[in-house]
Formats: sequence, structure tokens, C-alpha cells
Amino acid sequence: MSTINRRMFSLALLLAAAPLSAAELPATDSNKHLGVATCAASQCHGSAIPRDSTGVLQNEYVTWTQADPHSKAYEILSNEQSRRIAARLGLGNAREATQCLDCHTDNVPAARRGEKFQLADGVGCEACHGGAEQWLASHYNTGSVTHANNLAAGMYPTNAAVARAELCLSCHLGTENKFATHRMMAAGHPRLAFELDTFTELWRTLGRQPHFRDDAEYRQRKEVPSHSFTWATGLVTEARLRLDLIGSHHFDGIGMFPELAFFDCHACHRSMKTVQWQRLPRHGNGGPGLPFINDGTFVMSLALASAIQPDTVDELQSALRSLHAAGAESVESIRAAAADLDSILGRLDRALTPAALRGHELQLLAAVLEIGAEGNYLDYASAEQAFMAVQMLVLEIDDPELESQLEALGNSLNDDERYRPAQFARLLAELRD
Ligand code: HEC
Ligand code: HEC
Ligand code: HEC
Ligand code: HEC
Repeated sequence: MSTINRRMFSLALLLAAAPLSAAELPATDSNKHLGVATCAASQCHGSAIPRDSTGVLQNEYVTWTQADPHSKAYEILSNEQSRRIAARLGLGNAREATQCLDCHTDNVPAARRGEKFQLADGVGCEACHGGAEQWLASHYNTGSVTHANNLAAGMYPTNAAVARAELCLSCHLGTENKFATHRMMAAGHPRLAFELDTFTELWRTLGRQPHFRDDAEYRQRKEVPSHSFTWATGLVTEARLRLDLIGSHHFDGIGMFPELAFFDCHACHRSMKTVQWQRLPRHGNGGPGLPFINDGTFVMSLALASAIQPDTVDELQSALRSLHAAGAESVESIRAAAADLDSILGRLDRALTPAALRGHELQLLAAVLEIGAEGNYLDYASAEQAFMAVQMLVLEIDDPELESQLEALGNSLNDDERYRPAQFARLLAELRD
């Protein structure tokens, strides 16, 4: 290793080891989280109107319940969108799934939950301000207790730019331990995007009253960064945390690609408004958001086998399922599964003679239509193969009644970007009946 390389290497180690901020995130701090109810008394943070006696508004609870989306973060896990996301991912009830609770509530372990703690609070006060166990009783003695004393007792430094960035990003970007994966997005979760200053201001001013007064008195009490510094710090922190995630082995094994949520969504998607994913039998247990191997001709081979070599159909089906499953594993498993499928197709190939096919055209057509009527041509590539097979067979069979329906079928495939699988399946079912 050259000197330069060695130097760069040790620099890289240093960078990797350097924690961005020294503060322990609320999710992993060592104090009990006492619950929003502990903060909400009217003489504390539950005042109906903002107070002027101290710099602190004291109506933060009311602002949070009425205007802060964080107070609804648990509730939305019961809505229709969440129900569908969880069902598609096979997670059961989103309100009970750790994968969802970790970002939508203050999901600390049972041992760190106080008596009034409730998951239903969603992202409550202590999800951002840290477990209050050590500072609850003293933090309001403004005469004798300073902000520094509170921090020493475990309050999270939400006023410090890097620490705040790490806090917000722990949910708005994700960490190794909680992450909104491409699979969640393909199941219907919104895409995440974050900028520290914009989001802080947006969030601070959502209610009729702000979450905190950003005035001279406030800036005197606490060290508070400027907007441009907040922006710059948020930016660099996000970039570094993102790179940590990309470099992490945590997401290995999800598929052939590194986690797709790290890639530019619009590089692959022109539109993400529709979720048409459904579990197809031939895709095995693969979930939403996986790139499936183009299997249009494999599916047609299934139809062919059912007409001329019915005893290979089951084997073919299972090898095709394995190929799709391998797509979620590694490049090597794909190669192995491809070889297996090929050996079965080899048998079909050897059985394929003009004599073997003759007289089976109607059977073949029926198989192609049946597969389609069952909704298996969800992808345009297999629909296109199916159409070409149907057209060829109908013309060969020479049935004017069937021929008259070909045009509508062809039209439904005119534009691959507007392909509607349900419509195509309906047309095939009509042809079959
Ligand atoms: C890494 C953290 C993270 C995880 C994990 C996560 N979410 Fe979210 N979720 C968010 C954030 C942040 C938003 C708000 C995004 C925005 O608007 O910028 C959000 C938004 C949503 C929304 C839309 C809310 C709205 O008001 O429109 C739904 C629904 C949702 N999540 C459900 C789920 C479900 C169900 C799961 C579990 C499968 C889950 N989330 C897992 C962070 C997460
Ligand atoms: C999404 C994170 C988040 C949640 C949830 C949250 N806060 Fe805050 N809070 C902040 C940030 C950021 C600040 C501004 C930085 C600072 O002053 O530390 C702040 C500031 C404050 C302040 C200080 C105002 C001042 O003038 O010094 C109080 C008091 C406060 N929050 C109370 C609450 C209470 C009570 C709740 C629950 C009802 C709550 N917060 C929920 C993030 C949050
Ligand atoms: C424990 C996880 C968590 C933390 C920490 C967190 N958020 Fe959120 N945030 C969420 C979730 C989940 C939602 C979506 C809630 C919903 O729609 O009901 C959300 C929503 C928001 C929204 C509304 C987004 C929209 O598109 O309407 C803003 C703004 C926001 N958060 C800002 C912040 C800021 C600023 C911080 C740091 C001070 C922060 N959040 C910390 C989980 C978190
Ligand atoms: C490398 C290409 C690639 C990137 C980048 C990518 N996706 Fe996907 N996405 C896919 C594939 C492949 C599927 C599965 C397609 C299918 O099921 O028909 C998919 C499926 C989806 C679906 C469901 C579409 C449907 O019709 O069912 C949504 C929504 C989605 N992705 C959102 C996103 C978001 C948000 C991002 C960015 C964070 C993203 N994708 C990045 C390739 C990508």
C-alpha cells in the first residue's frame, strides 16, 4: 500500500468511526419514557392559550394534539392505506408491526415505558425530547436549572443542529434498524424526502400557535443555529447518514440489487401513483417491489406443455416459481434456477415435433386463454406473448367468430404504458367462453 493510500485509508476509518453527534437518540436513550400525559397538565405544557410568564409557550400539548401530524402517526396505522400496505407485505395489523411502530410511535422497549406511557400517543414529546425520567421533576425550575442541566439529565438537544438532524432523520430517512424499504413503498408507503430547515419551520408553524417561539428571548436562552446553518448541517448530515446506510451490509440479501429505496425513484418509474401489484402464483412468495424476470415465453411454454406434455406442467410451474424466488436472492441463485428450468424445457423441446402438435391447437388456445382469464398476464411482457399466440392460433384454427374479437384484444395492447391487466383478462375470458 502506498503512503498516500495508507493515509487515505486511515482517514476513511476515522470518518467512519466519528459519531456525528454525541447525543443518544431518544429511541435508544437509557431513561424511562413517561408518556405524553405526564407533560400535558394545564400548568405545564397543556395550557389552552400561550403563556407569557416564561419564554416557553406552555401550550405545546394543545398545538401537538391539534396540529402536529406526529400526534396522528399511530392513528394513521389503522387507516385504509396502512391496512393495504401491511396486507401486501404480509405484516398483519400495522398497529402491531414493529416495522411500522418504530417510526410511527415512540416504540421504546417495555422496560423503558412509564405508567402513563401509551403507544397510541404516536410520536409524542419524548420521542423527540428524550425520556423524561431524570429531568421531569426539575426541568421547569428556571431559576436554578439551566438548559445545560436538562441536557445532562438526558433531555435530547433538539436545539443543536446536528443532533436535531439526526433525530428527525432517524424517521424521515431511516436507520439500519428502522427503514421504509422499497418494498414498503411498492406496497403503498409514500416516498420520503427531508430538508432540516424547511421541515422544522413547516412543522413548527403548522398550528394556530407555533410549537416554540423563535424570538430574541429564545435565542438568548439557548444556542440556536441560523436558518442557513440549519440547512447546511441538515444537508451534510443527511448525506453522511445516507452513505452509511448505503455502505451498510444490513440490507444485503434483499435481492440482487442493493436496497432500491437508495436509488432515484424516477429513474425507474414514470408514475408511482398506481399500485397494481398482486401476488401471482408463479411469483411464489415474492412480495411487492421486486423486479421480476421477464417470463413471457416461459408462461407460454406452460400453455404449450399442458397441450403436448401435460406431465411436465407441475415441474415447470415449480421451476418457474423457484426462478422468481431466486430473483430475490442473488445472481448465483438466479443462474442455478435458470439451469433447472432449462433442463425441464429441454424435455419439452425434445418432445416438440409437428406430429406432436398437430390436432392440439384448440387445446393450446384454451390453455393460453385460461391462464389469462385467471389474471396471470399482469405484466405487459406476458400479455404481449399471449396476444401473439392467440392471434396465431385463431388464424390457424380459422374461426371467423373468434377472428372478429382479435381487433379489440390487439387494441388493448396498443400502448404498453396504458396497459390495463384487468381489461385484458376480461377480453380473454370472453374469447374463452
Ligand atoms: C423509517 C421510518 C418509517 C417506517 C419504517 C414507516 N414509516 Fe410510514 N411514514 C414515515 C414518515 C416520515 C412519513 C411521513 C412522510 C412525509 O410526508 O414526508 C410516513 C407516512 C406514512 C403514511 C402516510 C401518512 C399520511 O398522513 O398521508 C402511511 C399510511 C404510513 N406511513 C404507513 C406506514 C406503515 C403501514 C408502515 C409499516 C409497514 C410504515 N409506515 C413504516 C416513516 C416511516
Ligand atoms: C417531532 C419532534 C418533537 C415533538 C414530537 C415535540 N417536540 Fe418540542 N421541540 C422540538 C424541537 C425541534 C424544538 C426546538 C428546539 C429546542 O428549543 O430545543 C422543541 C421545543 C420545545 C420546547 C422549548 C421551547 C422553548 O422556548 O425553549 C418545549 C417546551 C417543547 N418543545 C415541548 C414539547 C412538548 C410538551 C411536546 C409534546 C406535547 C413536544 N415538545 C413534542 C421537537 C419536538
Ligand atoms: C419517531 C419518528 C419521527 C421523528 C423523530 C420525527 N418525525 Fe416527523 N414524521 C414522522 C411520521 C411517522 C410522520 C407522518 C405522520 C402522519 O402523517 O400522521 C411525520 C410527519 C412529519 C411532517 C409532516 C410531513 C408532511 O408531508 O406533511 C413534518 C413537517 C415532520 N414530520 C417534521 C419533523 C421534524 C422537523 C422532525 C425533527 C425535529 C421530525 N419530524 C421528527 C415521524 C417522525
Ligand atoms: C431500479 C429500479 C427501481 C427504482 C430505482 C425504484 N423502483 Fe419502485 N419498483 C421497481 C420494480 C422492479 C417494481 C416492481 C414492479 C411490479 O411489481 O410490477 C417497483 C414497484 C414499485 C411500486 C408499485 C408499482 C405497482 O404498480 O405495483 C411503487 C409505488 C414503487 N415501486 C415506488 C418506488 C419509489 C417511491 C422509489 C424510490 C424510493 C422506487 N420505487 C425506486 C423498480 C424500481
